[in-house]
Amino acid sequence: MADKEIMRGLKDVYIDTSEASFVDGQVGKLLYRGYNIHDLAEKSTFEEVIHLLLYAGLPRKDQLAELDATLRANREIPDEVVQVLRLVKDSHPMDALRTGVSALAAFDPEVDDNSPEATVRKGLRLTAQGPTVVAAHHRIRNGNEPVGPNADLNHAGNFLYMLSGAVPDEETQRLMDVDFILHAEHSSNASSFGARVTASTLSDLHSAIVTGIGVLKGPWHGGAAEAVMKMAQDIGQPENAEEYARKLLDSGGRIMGFGHRVYKAEDPRARHLRTRSQELGEKMGEPHWFQILRYMEEKVMVPYRSKGIYVNVDFFAGSIYHLLGIPEDLFIPIFALGRIPGWTLQCIEQYENNILMRPLLDYTGAMDLEYVPIEQRG
Ligand code: CMC
Repeated sequence: MADKEIMRGLKDVYIDTSEASFVDGQVGKLLYRGYNIHDLAEKSTFEEVIHLLLYAGLPRKDQLAELDATLRANREIPDEVVQVLRLVKDSHPMDALRTGVSALAAFDPEVDDNSPEATVRKGLRLTAQGPTVVAAHHRIRNGNEPVGPNADLNHAGNFLYMLSGAVPDEETQRLMDVDFILHAEHSSNASSFGARVTASTLSDLHSAIVTGIGVLKGPWHGGAAEAVMKMAQDIGQPENAEEYARKLLDSGGRIMGFGHRVYKAEDPRARHLRTRSQELGEKMGEPHWFQILRYMEEKVMVPYRSKGIYVNVDFFAGSIYHLLGIPEDLFIPIFALGRIPGWTLQCIEQYENNILMRPLLDYTGAMDLEYVPIEQRG
């Protein structure tokens, strides 16, 4: 078996070329189609980033207006999908989103058209409909009726509106907008890879995005933000962080929101969420969440930097959502809503130059056993 090189977890394996995003894990650099994530987070909007990703360039004003109008016009979901969400009202919101996207496939007239044009149209529809699914399920599980989309609000503002029924202030809308920007695309991360595997069989975009949602759910991927907030609540006060972390690490546990398969320096997305977590905590009179997280980062986890373990995008995100009054189990669906354009782009690239994704496993089990009829088995 010496000639077989096993690349467990496909670590450091390039599976293809891509023009979607550039990630330099050694210096903590992230570009979406050439544009630095810091510029996009500070100066752009999620709608602009969707255009950048799906149409390969920043939009002119008229192009942005057209894309924005398309999103606003496609936010409604069929009553039948709302009925499905009622049936699964007690499930985790991420399961409800996965189920909702799957149900939406039944009503999409282009579901089986994998052309680039139709895939962009479906990606835009799913981007527009995703927040409606998450918000409707959230309201139903709390005994409320869904609130329909508000065409006066942008993508981020409308999502928050459909969750609570109240129009959020500009600052809160911008927080959610930046969060969606930061989560929009990240090369061949596990969920995008999963979506590409599905696309590589020439299955459809809805199926690929259902795959992406399922992969993203795990705590080693998108589930980390939820776990970080639970951890912060368990810690309670900054001075408890040291003991909490020591116990967890000594028993072989991991501190969620730290470490990344590619980044061996600070995840560049974390910077924007750190600043906003601090500002929002102070504004809301709840600075202790940020203090707990910062203590963990600056005191407890410093020795781990020599192993390339720094904060990732999920570490400060949860504290922001919490301060916005969003419950922990909505954190992963929010990540998913931001990632739909990225998953769509990854699938378009896969369809454009398709090859079936089918790696090998080195079999180490028994060989050539004799089949014994059931009556004769001891
Ligand atoms: N806390 C403590 N130790 C860690 C952590 C952590 N968060 N992450 C990695 N390590 C250790 C790990 O125990 C191992 O130690 P040793 O070499 O002594 O066995 C070493 O670092 C390498 O770990 P690995 O699992 O081989 O490394 P990886 O590159 O496969 O891990 C990861 C990536 C994200 C699975 C891991 O860092 C992790 O579990 N982090 C916590 C979960 C998390 O925050 N996930 C969100 C990722 S970013 C958002 C996203 O894109 O989903």
